[in-house]
Amino acid sequence: MDSVYSARAMYQANDIKILHMETTSKCNATCPMCLRSVNGGKINPHLPLVELGLSEVQKILPESFVQGLDKVFMCGNYGDPAAASETLEIFTWLREVNPKIQLEIFSNGGLRSEKWWAKIAEVINKAVFAIDGLEDTNHLYRRGVVWHKVEKNIQAFVQAGGKARWDYIVFRHNEHQVEEARQVAAQWGVQDFQVKKTGRFFSYSKTKIKEAQEVWDKDGNVEYLLELPRNQEYVNKAFAKGKTEEKKTGNMKSYIERSVIDCKVAAEKSVYLTSEGFILPCCWLAIRMYPWYSGKGKTEIWKIFEKVEGGMDSVNALKYGIEAVIEGDFFQKVLPESWDLPSHEDGKLFACSKTCGRKEFDLFRSQFVGASKTQKITDKLFEKSRLGV
Ligand SMILES: C[S@@+](CC[C@H](N)C(=O)[O-])C[C@H]1O[C@@H](n2cnc3c(N)ncnc32)[C@H](O)[C@@H]1O
Ligand code: SF4
Ligand code: SF4
Repeated sequence: MDSVYSARAMYQANDIKILHMETTSKCNATCPMCLRSVNGGKINPHLPLVELGLSEVQKILPESFVQGLDKVFMCGNYGDPAAASETLEIFTWLREVNPKIQLEIFSNGGLRSEKWWAKIAEVINKAVFAIDGLEDTNHLYRRGVVWHKVEKNIQAFVQAGGKARWDYIVFRHNEHQVEEARQVAAQWGVQDFQVKKTGRFFSYSKTKIKEAQEVWDKDGNVEYLLELPRNQEYVNKAFAKGKTEEKKTGNMKSYIERSVIDCKVAAEKSVYLTSEGFILPCCWLAIRMYPWYSGKGKTEIWKIFEKVEGGMDSVNALKYGIEAVIEGDFFQKVLPESWDLPSHEDGKLFACSKTCGRKEFDLFRSQFVGASKTQKITDKLFEKSRLGV
């Protein structure tokens, strides 16, 4: 049923098919383009380090809601699901309540024991491991992740029958190892290998494509730079469009602002749960809650809640449950109405315009476009690895 409030309708609670969960904001790593740390150095001082336990998840999600879902995936913005104490218990409960549900975890693979990964393999359908290089390079982006833990955990997961995908973000420092990593994935029994062309060489403050990203130590000193790969096959194609637009006005502000928003999650009927228990439509809005360079309460996501009765607390699902939150004012009125406002100044969200405003400048989707050559591990290679050859 369409919303009664807005011509630009959002879904209703019983339409939801996909839940994206951020189980925790804790992690073993400090990846420089992840907002949990300050450019890979100290932990983001604004970030609450929290997690959801099983009893909290049960409070947020009624069983009838879980039974209507096709998929729950644990990924998040600020943490690694393997760092939360009750991730396995939460997945087990979801499986009990909805035996047919698709359950997936996204992890750097460096946390927990082989035993834990073997156990979780029996409950979930897929694990996506973020490994950006090999033994000598993975830690340059995945700062703090210990290679031999990753190696052992993935193999334990796969040997216990788990289906795994290796996601490989390509940078200048690891572009020479893509093919070798694909072979290693096959040797480990990993079924899919996904080249990822990051869209994060983008400056929010300057609304411009970045050439490089500084990596800092805990005191804010530059340790080294992350650079785009030289091989254009590994570069996000949306950057080229962005640069063309930048040439016209010096930055991408008005190009992004003038976009017509076509909400991705309204179309796919998915919703996002933060590790504090807030329900927001997507990770792209939720990530604007705690950027280290802004401070709590300063970004547009906090500002839009000034228009909602009860403010940010009105989307606290620990208090109201997920269904009441989705049926409330923010989802049904304030957010969809914001999409048609003339400018960011008037309250049109920059995150919405940037993520869902321009099909030809879709930094997220373009990460996976054109990677087919390196994407699938061939059946032959996979068979070999299964046989231990
Ligand atoms: C905050 S992480 C949470 C899950 C887990 N900790 C991980 O890293 O896979 C959310 C997603 O962002 C991805 N990510 C991190 N840095 C990225 C980058 N520079 N470009 C594209 N994706 C990135 C992660 O690999 C993961 O899929
Ligand atoms: S592993 Fe994931 S959550 Fe942890 S710092 Fe890296 S991107 Fe962020
Ligand atoms: S960024 Fe805005 S428009 Fe895009 S999916 Fe999220 S809520 Fe919808």
